[in-house]
Amino acid sequence: MTPPAATGAGRVAAFRGSVLHCLDDPAAAGDAAIEYLDDGLLVCEDGHVTGLGPAPELLARLPGGAQVTDHRGKLIVPGLVDCHVHFPQVDMIASYGEQLLEWLEKYAFPAERRFDDPAHAADTAAFFVDELLRNGTTTALVFATVHPASVDAIFSAAERRGMRLVAGKVLMDHACPEDLRDGADAGIGESRELLRRWHGRGRLGYAVTPRFAVTSSERQLQAAGQLAQEFPDVHVHTHLAENRAEVERIGERFPECRSYLDVYERFGLLRRKSVFAHCLHIDDKDRAALARHGGAIAFCPSSNLFLGSGLFDLAAAEAHGVRVGAGSDVGGGTSLNMLATLADGYKVLQLHGQPLSAWRALYLATLGAARALYLDDRIGNFESGREADFVVLDPAATPLLARRTARAADIAERLFALLMLADDRAVAATYLMARPASVRTAAAGAPAAGR
Ligand code: GUN
Ligand code: ZN
Repeated sequence: MTPPAATGAGRVAAFRGSVLHCLDDPAAAGDAAIEYLDDGLLVCEDGHVTGLGPAPELLARLPGGAQVTDHRGKLIVPGLVDCHVHFPQVDMIASYGEQLLEWLEKYAFPAERRFDDPAHAADTAAFFVDELLRNGTTTALVFATVHPASVDAIFSAAERRGMRLVAGKVLMDHACPEDLRDGADAGIGESRELLRRWHGRGRLGYAVTPRFAVTSSERQLQAAGQLAQEFPDVHVHTHLAENRAEVERIGERFPECRSYLDVYERFGLLRRKSVFAHCLHIDDKDRAALARHGGAIAFCPSSNLFLGSGLFDLAAAEAHGVRVGAGSDVGGGTSLNMLATLADGYKVLQLHGQPLSAWRALYLATLGAARALYLDDRIGNFESGREADFVVLDPAATPLLARRTARAADIAERLFALLMLADDRAVAATYLMARPASVRTAAAGAPAAGR
């Protein structure tokens, strides 16, 4: 238990409810990785966590004037983190019938083409960020489009709401529609400008974002690697080995490379803070290289099922010590809700005989995801000093949830049932830096704007 810090001039706000978070990876530390307080109090000052402990004890020690919000009967968990999502694809989510390469041509590229209109970009970005918050996601690593205005739009929307977000302009200059190509040098120039404008501004960070090796020339991959090297603090964000036809194309184009990951490595794109979405068709040498260089995998089960891409092997990634976080990959994925995404993750892993525990699932969308993004010094759990982004989950949000969670013997069973059955209705409120950012109103069942 951490006692609340001595009172200063800051705003003290405390939140009472059942509080659950990960102190470590449950795969490594077992139950010791989890802290659970049935009647807990999360104490925050100036938007940061300053204390967590049993409510009766901590309430008595709160400074006068501290504001206490009562969420008893609900579960307070750290803000959910989406390690891979495309904001421009909210308009074509749930499109029928194709696998990756045809799906890109038929649905994704036409939707992204519309982002040459800054007004459309701004409107979509605002909708997207509000949807994330409504679903309990407080941090995301986001693909924009090839258009610089799409990056300005998503960063502006996140900044206005005080949300932590990492994003980047898509680099694509090869084997894709002419009108969506940026040109190797022009694309890097635009990226550098956007990086200078947005990286490190408030809660925002930039990611160098080559779409995937399929749609970048060697010159562009080279320049992207150089840009990343020039700014070691920014993220690299791309796709890797999602679909068999994609992997075959890379094999034909880069016969000198041992594997698809090897292509990224040769161009300087495999490093600390590199995040690779999917990684379905990789081998143990790739996993060892990912771990050695500090690269991370975004596990996107909903998308992998929807696009028929394949089954992620979490145990193999874990055995090699690779950082893994969960991602929705909307519009390939069919939900922005990370709880629903984890439910799909459980089903995918069942097909490998790797049932995902409730603790490990929570980890993949909180502390594990924060570690995958190298943001665990700021977010991911309720250790003292962390930014107070959190979600209030309602285990009785629907009649079925209420009935099932009431019969749970302990918190592990309750959380598991909640994860498997939840959608946006289970997110009662989302807080950014201890302030409400989205609150579900009982009457309408719809969230009210928090600020
Ligand atoms: N690979 C390259 N681009 C994309 C994309 O937009 N979505 C998914 N799921 N995979 C990709
Ligand atoms: Zn993707």
